[in-house]
Formats: sequence, C-alpha cells, structure tokens
Amino acid sequence: MAEQTNGKVALVTGGANGIGKRISEVLGAAGCRLAVCDIDETALNTFIDELKTAGVPALGVKADISRGEEVDRVVKEISTAWEAPDILVNNAGITRDQFIMRMTEADWDLVLTVNLKAAFLLTKACLRPMLKKRAGRIVNIASVVGIMGNAGQANYAASKAGLIALTKSTAKEAASRGITANAIAPGFIQTAMTDKLPVKVIDEYLKAIPLSKLGQPEDIARTVEFLASDAAGYITGQVIRVDGGMITA
Ligand code: NAI
Repeated sequence: MAEQTNGKVALVTGGANGIGKRISEVLGAAGCRLAVCDIDETALNTFIDELKTAGVPALGVKADISRGEEVDRVVKEISTAWEAPDILVNNAGITRDQFIMRMTEADWDLVLTVNLKAAFLLTKACLRPMLKKRAGRIVNIASVVGIMGNAGQANYAASKAGLIALTKSTAKEAASRGITANAIAPGFIQTAMTDKLPVKVIDEYLKAIPLSKLGQPEDIARTVEFLASDAAGYITGQVIRVDGGMITA
C-alpha cells in the first residue's frame, strides 16, 4: 500500500478524533501527506504534533465545515502548502437525536449541513483539480442507518442516505476521468459517539450484530485505506458496509 499512496495528499475531515483520527493515522502510515481539518482546535493541534513526531507530513486546518467559505479556505490552504487533495475523506459528522415530533428545524438543518452539504461543497472544491489530474479518490463515511433508517435519528439517517446518493452521483460524473467515489457504511463503532449510549442500548444493538461486538475505528480506517489505494481502482459508486454483519440483504 505504501508505494501506492506515497506522497499523495489526503484530506480527512473531522480527523482530530474518533474514526477520522484513525483514518488519518493509517493513511499517514501508508505514505500520504496528511491534511486534517476539524472544528476542535485543541485536539487538532495535539494530533498534528503527534503525526509530525511520527514522521508524517501533516497539516492541520481548523475549520467549521458547516460554513461554505470555510470549506473553500480549507482546500486553498492545502493547495498552497502542498497541492490539491488527491484523496478526500468526508468523515466529519454529528448527531442531534430526537424523535421527529420533537426535532427542531435548527437541529435538522445543522445535521444536514455538516453531514451532507459540507461533503458536497468539499467534493466540488476537490473535484476540479482531480478532473485536471485525471485521478482522485473520494471516500464518504455514511452509516448503516442511512440504509435502514433509525427511530430518533431522522435528520442523521436522512443526511447519511443523502451522502450515499451524493457518492453514487459523484461516481457517475467523475468515472470517465479516473476518479472513484465510494461510501463506507459503518455499523456501531466504538468512539465518543457510541460511548455516550447507555449500556442497555448497546446490549440491544449487540443482539442485532452477528459478530457480537462493536467495530473499532481501525475497521473503518483499513477499508478507507483500501478504497484509496490503486488496488481499488475498479470499485466506484459502492457502499461498503462495515457493520459486523448487521445488514446482509
Ligand atoms: P466523533 O464525534 O468522534 O468525531 C467527529 C469529528 O468531526 C470530531 O473531531 C469533530 O470535532 C468533527 N466535526 C464535527 N463537526 C464539525 C464541523 N462543523 N467542522 C469540522 N469538523 C467537525 O465521531 P465518530 O464516531 O468518529 O464518527 C466519524 C464519522 O463516522 C461520522 O460521519 C459518523 O456519522 C460516522 N459514523 C460513526 C459511527 C459510530 O458508531 N461511531 C457509526 C456510523 C457512522
């Protein structure tokens, strides 16, 4: 893998914590120049120092990607420092869970903006240079709930379903220029997001997971590594479920 990604510029959004952090570490270890953007400045700065200490060329860009102008700045800063991203991983995502009857319009808008609109804007900003290079890899981190829906997560599930449709559309538009776009649909992965859930809820989820355990950020990161590599050049427009067997149909 290392020679396949050697020197390529990868941008991971929401890469300072959780799954995105592990994705960044794995792509860094595979030889990428690593640009990490995150709203969490403290975690971002600490992580960039760690990457540099590990010998990874790393660039941290603090940004709130729910704001269009910040998205443009992120891509400009990376292009100025190095070159435009060869690999874009739209990983940043948030939840604002509530039943539909109680969900506010503001929480609907925020989740759709961070999880879906920002991915569209980043795809748009990265696609032009990728089209010129006639190469590129886009990996969007969706969710199994974007496929099956989930009570209490109408905004989140809709955003992830939208992200899957964005992925498929990107794949169709960009395929002729050697660019691939795929989505990963994680099941339940052990991070701060799932650590907030009560034990009872986790036990219920485990019953629906044939492999009887939560996934780890590593499981998602290795799938991203593969999809970003030359080995995955004939895979595009797909949704890869990394969910311990939850959905098989
Ligand atoms: P996390 O909450 O640990 O990390 C998300 C990162 O995104 C954080 O570093 C946060 O600061 C950053 N972020 C949030 N809003 C941002 C904004 N406006 N601008 C820039 N950065 C922002 O979450 P986790 O669990 O690592 O999730 C990563 C992705 O995986 C998300 O898209 C999530 O929806 C998805 N996912 C996670 C699952 C899980 O079980 N943990 C299951 C399925 C999908």
